Amino acid sequence: MEKIIVKDNIEGGKKAFELIKEGMRQETKVLGLATGSTPIALYKEMTESDLDFGHMTAINLDEYFGLSADNDQSYHYFMQEQLFSKKPFKETFIPDGLADEETEPARYDKIIDEHPIDIQILGIGTNGHIGFNEPGTSFDSTTRKVSLTESTIASNKRNFEKAEEVPRYAYSMGIKSILSAKEIILMVFGEEKAEAIKKTLEGPITTDVPGSVLQQHPNVVVIMDEAAAKLI
Ligand code: GLP
Repeated sequence: MEKIIVKDNIEGGKKAFELIKEGMRQETKVLGLATGSTPIALYKEMTESDLDFGHMTAINLDEYFGLSADNDQSYHYFMQEQLFSKKPFKETFIPDGLADEETEPARYDKIIDEHPIDIQILGIGTNGHIGFNEPGTSFDSTTRKVSLTESTIASNKRNFEKAEEVPRYAYSMGIKSILSAKEIILMVFGEEKAEAIKKTLEGPITTDVPGSVLQQHPNVVVIMDEAAAKLI
């Protein structure tokens, strides 16, 4: 695992962008993308660059269950606002929050199988989750409907007007699919992530800390700011 410590999220976004640019000079065609506040600086770098993503495919990690693509709290909406409306991709995929739970997981896994991910961008939850794979998730998991933990609901309520509005369920790509990416760029910013990233990088590999499975992946770059890295 390569660990890079930067001053702040802006510098972290620039660093991640450099890695993506480097990948695109070679074989990178499929980007696995994440939502949340963490990748915003990266998406800004991408939208302000002169790079063309028109030949690239983007596959997102997750979506809130029950939210439509035009709901301004959905991850569809977030991706459209932050990246896709400004930098068109050849094709983009995000789980459909309104789709039937009997069919949506298999549909999404087929998309992942057909578009092997070259570079996966990841953030991490304060409880160590990656995507919406909460503590306790099997490392063999694939796409499914998940129940969000109270701690995730509490963290994510900052993006909603009222706590009751935070969805209780989501569709998430599984840990097995995340690990199938050729390269993973994990970005971690802010002191509130310090415990989670310490356990992720230095603790035992355990389903209690989903991110810790990344220790088993051969090609991970971790970009942390000084606040997040304070316990490392
Ligand atoms: C959400 C997302 C994750 C993200 C995490 C951290 O729950 N499903 O993919 O990494 O929260 O969010 P933030 O970047 O806002 O701290």
